[in-house]
Amino acid sequence: MKKLSNKKHFWKKRSVKYDNLQWVNKQNYINAFIKAGEFKKSDIVLDVGTGTGVIAHAISSHVKEVIGLDISQDMLEHSNWHDNKYFIRRDLLNPIFKEEVFDKLTARMVFHHILKDTQKAMNECYRLLKKKGKMVLSEGVPPSIDVKEDYAKIFKLKEERLTFMPQDLHKLMKKAGFKNIKTEIVLMKHMSINNWIENSGLPENTQKTIYRMHIEAGDYFKRAYNMKVTDEDCYIDMQSAILVGTK
Ligand SMILES: C[S@@+](CC[C@H](N)C(=O)[O-])C[C@H]1O[C@@H](n2cnc3c(N)ncnc32)[C@H](O)[C@@H]1O
Repeated sequence: MKKLSNKKHFWKKRSVKYDNLQWVNKQNYINAFIKAGEFKKSDIVLDVGTGTGVIAHAISSHVKEVIGLDISQDMLEHSNWHDNKYFIRRDLLNPIFKEEVFDKLTARMVFHHILKDTQKAMNECYRLLKKKGKMVLSEGVPPSIDVKEDYAKIFKLKEERLTFMPQDLHKLMKKAGFKNIKTEIVLMKHMSINNWIENSGLPENTQKTIYRMHIEAGDYFKRAYNMKVTDEDCYIDMQSAILVGTK
């Protein structure tokens, strides 16, 4: 059997339980994303790194059409949605569309996976948008700069990734040419760590280590995350940044 690359293997494992992740379907997060996008019935949207299509589905009734683009066949195959959407397996960094074809671009929790050529990927988003088109970018962020290092340490056990603060995302968009960039922070309260680690395709020993790192963390970390520990689980308030920029 052909050996899968590390990246393919990672998404193959993650795709199976991806839709069970609490943050993926968290309604206040999805609602804030939709509101930020100010979608119109005439919009043709490209959802970059669509994964299982949760965002593509959420915005589909607000727009004319959504095209979901993703590098992982496994993530796309786990999509449960089949309305006004089309899915394409492709790396964002390997362009197929000509410039200025989309009214809006959406990218939720994708850019931290683009380790190399991150700016080039953002420039590509800019290129694909029509003039006056909008990009809605969202990433999970540490609740404060004081816990950024701990945040990166925990996530390093889970995946190879970038850690952004909201201002890093702003810079990325500004450098690509986006104007009138607005940032909003969405709070997802009382999120289960067990739900997160059990549905992330991680080996059991890594799950245990990540759980321990939370409950044994310093007081400053627990405070920043408003952590609550019970006999069964550990709960934190998660934060995501949503940025909207105009071409
Ligand atoms: C955490 S998932 C987010 C999925 C979806 N946007 C959501 O909010 O549920 C990240 C997705 O980005 C995709 N991805 C990562 N790098 C990519 C690239 N260079 N081009 C296209 N998709 C990419 C992955 O395959 C994965 O499906």
